[in-house]
Amino acid sequence: MPQVLGSAAAALLAGLLWAGPAWAEGAAPISQATQACLDCHNEATPAIVADWQRGRMARTSLAQALKQPELKRRVSAQQASAALLNVAVGCAECHTLNPKAHADTFSHGDQPVHVVVTSKDCATCHPTEETEYGRNLMSQAHGNLVNNPLYMDLAKQINGAPLVQAGEVKLQPPSAQTEAESCLYCHGTKVEMQGLQKRDTGDYGEMSFPRLSGWPNHGVGRINPDGSKGSCTPCHSRHQFSLALARSPYTCAECHKGPDVPVYRVYQVSKHGNLYFALHKQWQMEAVPWTPGQDFSAPTCAVCHVSLLTDATGKVIVKRSHQMSDRIWVRLLGLIYSHAHPKSPDTSIIKNADGQSLATTLDGRPAAKFLIDAQEQARRQARMKGVCRACHSQQWVDGQMARLAQSIKDADAQVRASTELVQQAWGLGLAQGPAQKQSPFDQYIERVWTEQWLFWANSMRFASAMVGADMGVFEQGRWEASKNVRQMQDWLEAHRKKK
Ligand code: HEC
Ligand code: HEC
Ligand code: HEC
Ligand code: HEC
Ligand code: HEC
Ligand code: HEC
Ligand code: HEC
Ligand code: HEC
Repeated sequence: MPQVLGSAAAALLAGLLWAGPAWAEGAAPISQATQACLDCHNEATPAIVADWQRGRMARTSLAQALKQPELKRRVSAQQASAALLNVAVGCAECHTLNPKAHADTFSHGDQPVHVVVTSKDCATCHPTEETEYGRNLMSQAHGNLVNNPLYMDLAKQINGAPLVQAGEVKLQPPSAQTEAESCLYCHGTKVEMQGLQKRDTGDYGEMSFPRLSGWPNHGVGRINPDGSKGSCTPCHSRHQFSLALARSPYTCAECHKGPDVPVYRVYQVSKHGNLYFALHKQWQMEAVPWTPGQDFSAPTCAVCHVSLLTDATGKVIVKRSHQMSDRIWVRLLGLIYSHAHPKSPDTSIIKNADGQSLATTLDGRPAAKFLIDAQEQARRQARMKGVCRACHSQQWVDGQMARLAQSIKDADAQVRASTELVQQAWGLGLAQGPAQKQSPFDQYIERVWTEQWLFWANSMRFASAMVGADMGVFEQGRWEASKNVRQMQDWLEAHRKKK
C-alpha cells in the first residue's frame, strides 16, 4: 500500500531487516524489530507468541503471498514498502504500522507500538477486504445506534437502572461501562486514548502503557484510536487469524443469537446445521478456494454470506465479499417492518415520511429513497440463489424462496395488527407515545408491542430465510406473535372498560 511507503515504522524496519533463523521450512524470515518483541514476549506473553506461531502470517511474507495464483491469493495489496515485503508478518509488522495516525502509539522497547491493530492497519496488506467491509452495515454499527435518537431511547429503557420513587419507576441514565457491556459489546465502543500510565511489569521493571477507555472491545463497528471504523477481530481472532475460525458458525454465534436476531439458533435447528455439527470434522475448513461437494457438503454462515466458492473445475460460483449485503436483498430485521436493504451502510441518515429515524412508517410505508430498488434486489437475490444452486436444483431453491416471501408477508401482518392496537392505546390515552412526546418503549403495552416486531416477527423471517422452521413456529415465532395480538387486544378491552 502506497500510504505505508513513507511511514516511519517502515523506514525503521527497512534498516533492521535480517534473515533470522527460519523456524519452519520455507518460512519467511522474521524482522529484527519483531525478534526484539519476541525476546521479551516469549516470557511476558507466551500464549500470544504460541498462538501467532500457529498462523500463516507468522511464516509467510507478502512477497511469497503475492506469488499465489489469483484464486488462492490471501492478500489483496498489489505493492508494499520494501520493509514489509520480504519478512513474515510479525509483532512489529502489525503493532507499529501507521504510528502517526494512532493516538494510542507509545514508546515500547524503542519502537512506536500501538495496542489496537485496526481494520485500517490490516488494509496495508488486505485493502480489498477493508474497502468491502466499509460497505457492510457491521462497520457502521456503532454510529447506527448512537446517532439514532429512537434506538438510543430503546437502549436507555433497557440499560437504565430503575429507581422506584413514590410508586413510580424512574430511570438513572446508564453508565459508559454499562453501555460497553450491553449494546456496544457487539455494536462496538469508541476506543479513546486517555494518556500514559506507568506499571510495574515484574521482570522488566516499570514501563509506560497507554490507558484506553472503551477497552477491551471487539464490536464490529468499533471506533478506533486511528479514527477508522470497524474491527476485523470479531471474526479473525488474534493471533492465529485462522480461516477455519472465520468460516465456522460458532464465530457468528457470539452476536447473532439473541431473540432479536436468532440466526445462529435457526442454523442449529436447520438441516444445514445438522450436517455441519455431525460431519464438519471430515470437511476441509482451510481450503482456498473452497469447493462445495469436494471440501464440504452443507453451508455454514460464511458459505452463504461471504466465501469465494468454485466448482471442481475451478470455475467461480460466487466471489468472496466482505460487503455481505451484495447477497442480501431485503432487510429482514424489522424495525419495525422488513423492507428493501438500505443503500448506505450508515442507517442513521434514514428518515421516514413521519420524520422518524426508521426505514418504514409505523403503518408500513417505506422510506424508498434510502433503500435499494427492485432491480438491485433481483441482482442480489440471484447471487444468493447461485450459492444454493451449487448443491440444489432450481425447483428446490425457487420453492424455498417463495416460502420466504410469504413468511415476510405473514410477519409484517403480525406487526401491523399489534401496531394498530398500540396506536389505539395511545389514542385513548391508555399509554403515552410519540404524539405525547414520550418514549414508545417504556409502558407495559408498548413492551408487548416491541416484543412483537423485535422478537417474534424477526424470528419468523429468519427461520424461513435460513431454513430452521422450529424457530419460526412454537419456539419464538408464529405462536408467540399470534398470542401477543390476543393479549394486546384483551389488555385494551379491560383498560378501556375501566376508564
Ligand atoms: C523489554 C521487553 C519488551 C519488549 C522489547 C517488547 N515488549 Fe511488549 N510488553 C512487555 C511487557 C512486560 C508487557 C506487559 C504485559 C502485561 O501487561 O502483562 C508488554 C505489553 C505489550 C502490549 C500490550 C499493552 C497493553 O497495555 O495492552 C503490546 C501490544 C506489546 N507489548 C507489543 C509489543 C511489540 C509489538 C513489541 C516489539 C515491537 C514489544 N511489545 C516489545 C515487554 C516487552
Ligand atoms: C496480523 C497482525 C498482528 C500480529 C502479527 C500481531 N498482533 Fe498483537 N494484536 C493484533 C490485534 C488485531 C489485536 C487485538 C486488537 C483488537 O481487538 O482489535 C492484538 C492484541 C495484542 C495484545 C493485547 C492483548 C490483550 O489481551 O491485552 C498484545 C499484548 C499483542 N497483541 C502482542 C503481540 C505480539 C507479542 C505479537 C508477536 C508475537 C503480536 N501481537 C502479533 C494484531 C496483531
Ligand atoms: C504486512 C502485511 C499484512 C498485514 C499488516 C496483515 N496481514 Fe493478514 N496476511 C498477510 C499474509 C502475507 C498472509 C498469508 C498469505 C498466504 O499464506 O498466502 C495473510 C493471511 C491472512 C489471513 C488468512 C489466514 C489463513 O489461515 O488462511 C487472514 C484471515 C488475515 N491475514 C487477516 C489479517 C488481519 C485481520 C489483519 C489485521 C489485524 C492482517 N491480516 C494484517 C499479510 C498481512
Ligand atoms: C450479542 C450482540 C448484540 C448486542 C448485545 C446488541 N445487539 Fe443490536 N444487533 C446485533 C446484531 C447481530 C444485529 C444485526 C442483525 C441482522 O442484521 O440481522 C443488530 C442490529 C441492531 C439494530 C439495527 C441497526 C440498523 O439500523 O441497522 C438495532 C437498532 C440494535 N441492534 C439495537 C440494539 C440495542 C438497543 C442494544 C442494547 C440494548 C443491542 N442492539 C445490543 C447484535 C447485538
Ligand atoms: C461482535 C459481534 C458480531 C459478530 C461476531 C458477527 N456479527 Fe454480523 N452483525 C453484527 C451487528 C451488530 C450487525 C448489525 C449492524 C447494524 O445493523 O448496524 C451485524 C450485521 C450482519 C449482517 C448484515 C450486513 C449488511 O450489510 O446487511 C450480516 C450478513 C452479518 N452480520 C453476518 C455475520 C456473519 C456471517 C458472521 C460470522 C462470520 C458475523 N456476522 C459475525 C455483529 C456481529
Ligand atoms: C463478520 C465476520 C468477518 C469480519 C468482521 C471480517 N472478516 Fe475476513 N473473512 C470472514 C470470512 C467468513 C472469511 C472466509 C471467506 C472465504 O471462505 O472465502 C474471511 C476471509 C478473510 C481473509 C482470507 C482471504 C483468503 O483469500 O483466504 C482475509 C485476508 C480477511 N478475511 C481479511 C479481513 C479484514 C482485513 C477484515 C477487516 C477489515 C475482515 N476480514 C473482517 C469473515 C469476516
Ligand atoms: C443456506 C444459506 C444460509 C446460511 C447457511 C446462513 N444464511 Fe443468513 N441469510 C440467508 C438468506 C437467504 C437470507 C435472506 C436474505 C435477505 O435478507 O435478503 C439471510 C439473511 C441473513 C442476515 C440478514 C438479516 C437481515 O436483517 O436482513 C444475517 C445477519 C444473516 N443471514 C446471518 C447469518 C449467520 C450469522 C448465519 C450462520 C449462523 C447464517 N446467516 C447462515 C442464507 C443463509
Ligand atoms: C454446500 C451445499 C449446500 C448449499 C450451498 C445449500 N444447501 Fe440446502 N441443503 C444441503 C444438503 C446436503 C441438504 C440436506 C438434504 C437432505 O437431507 O436430503 C440441504 C437441505 C436444505 C433444505 C431442507 C431443509 C429441511 O430440513 O427440510 C432446504 C429448504 C435448503 N437446503 C435450502 C437451501 C437454500 C435456500 C440454500 C441457499 C440459500 C441452500 N439450501 C444452500 C446442501 C446445501
